[in-house]
Amino acid sequence: MKVDVVSSTPTTDPAVQHLLQVAIAVTKHAYIPYSNYPVGAALRAVDGTVYSGCNVENAAYPATICAERTALVKAVSEGQRAFDLLVVVTKNAGSPCGTCRQMLYEFSPQLRVILADLAGNITSDTTLSALLPDGFGPDRLPR
Ligand code: THU
Repeated sequence: MKVDVVSSTPTTDPAVQHLLQVAIAVTKHAYIPYSNYPVGAALRAVDGTVYSGCNVENAAYPATICAERTALVKAVSEGQRAFDLLVVVTKNAGSPCGTCRQMLYEFSPQLRVILADLAGNITSDTTLSALLPDGFGPDRLPR
């Protein structure tokens, strides 16, 4: 897969390592009776605060919320509006779904996005703009 490489040594960056550990740790709270696919996210606001999130499934399947959006709504509900780093971990380093990309784009199109597996092996180091090219953002709507 072609990605925008932001850092050539992401695994040695202590900040990335910290978010990786946060993302891995929160997977223990994933509520996944239907998929058995735990996802953990760690989202850093520009002030340095890190918000964790896991996926929370529902018997009415579409009501499920992804890990990335859990972290995002936790952060926004605490007053955060800008983010610079997201780490997502899954069994197979899966990439954020379209809905999560869109919701994150609202706040931080330039967000750095790192994907890894549950052992912390990074497979992708890219940006939200690369994952959601020509995204629809707030600037499209006149206020
Ligand atoms: N999932 C996430 O948490 N994030 C994504 O970006 C993709 C999918 C979750 C939703 C559901 O609980 C499980 O993974 C399988 O789709």
